[in-house]
Amino acid sequence: MDAVYTHGHHESVLRSHRWRTAGNSAAYLLPHLKPHMKVLDVGSGPGTITADLAARVPDGHVTASEVTEDALELARAEVAARGLANVGFAVADVHALDYPDDTFCVAHAHQVLQHVGDPVRALREMGRVTKPGGLVAARDSDYSAFTWWPRVPALDEWMALYQRLARANGGEPDAGRRLLSWARAAGFEDVTATSSTWCFADPEDRAWWGGMWADRILRSALAEQAVATGAATEADLRRMSDGWREWAAAEDGWLSVLHGEILCRVTA
Ligand SMILES: C[S@@+](CC[C@H](N)C(=O)[O-])C[C@H]1O[C@@H](n2cnc3c(N)ncnc32)[C@H](O)[C@@H]1O
Repeated sequence: MDAVYTHGHHESVLRSHRWRTAGNSAAYLLPHLKPHMKVLDVGSGPGTITADLAARVPDGHVTASEVTEDALELARAEVAARGLANVGFAVADVHALDYPDDTFCVAHAHQVLQHVGDPVRALREMGRVTKPGGLVAARDSDYSAFTWWPRVPALDEWMALYQRLARANGGEPDAGRRLLSWARAAGFEDVTATSSTWCFADPEDRAWWGGMWADRILRSALAEQAVATGAATEADLRRMSDGWREWAAAEDGWLSVLHGEILCRVTA
């Protein structure tokens, strides 16, 4: 349960997370939302998805939850900027949610289970606070299944480094392929498992994704951990950063991020 969140909340990380919308990150859930629903968004981060979900349940309510008050502040600012009145905020660890049984219609987690120490317990806990007939929804990327062109050796180094550090922190970077098995282990019987991708292939998208990772590998918590643990030198990180810029500048550059998704129906 004591996993460390690998990415931290540096600007280069938030730049990536703030790009996320309910449309590009929770499309598998959206057809199931009804205007009156009560939703828990676990690990809400900067809250762009949280705010989108809130707009889709105008007669209902969304609770944004995060592990620290500082992290929760990010979602508070996003929700305030959008003028949404139906969002509440709570500091909560997904392994032990401070809510009675059967509180929410939907418990949602986007890119969270890959970072937690016990994803099966987390899913069981999300199920406990969800009403019978409600849904537990989770989506996670699967790092080993990221694929790109052209081949840039420094990006293979980046991938190996990321996997090593995420696992050292107690996470599972290949969570996407594991979600269904975790849901089964958590006791869910009615599970719909799907996948979807993000694709970055035009010059603007490549510049954004490649530029974001070029900064992130030099400046975020990941970079600090890499150097502090001796997993990489600053020169290694600069080479990986340059690799991201090389990929972004390639006219035929293309990258796809595979995600696993689960929708678990809660039974009485
Ligand atoms: C990759 S971010 C995803 C943020 C947001 N859901 C999104 O997709 O934009 C993962 C978030 O999960 C939070 N987190 C990490 N461990 C957690 C835990 N045990 N319980 C709840 N949230 C956690 C982190 O603080 C971080 O903000």
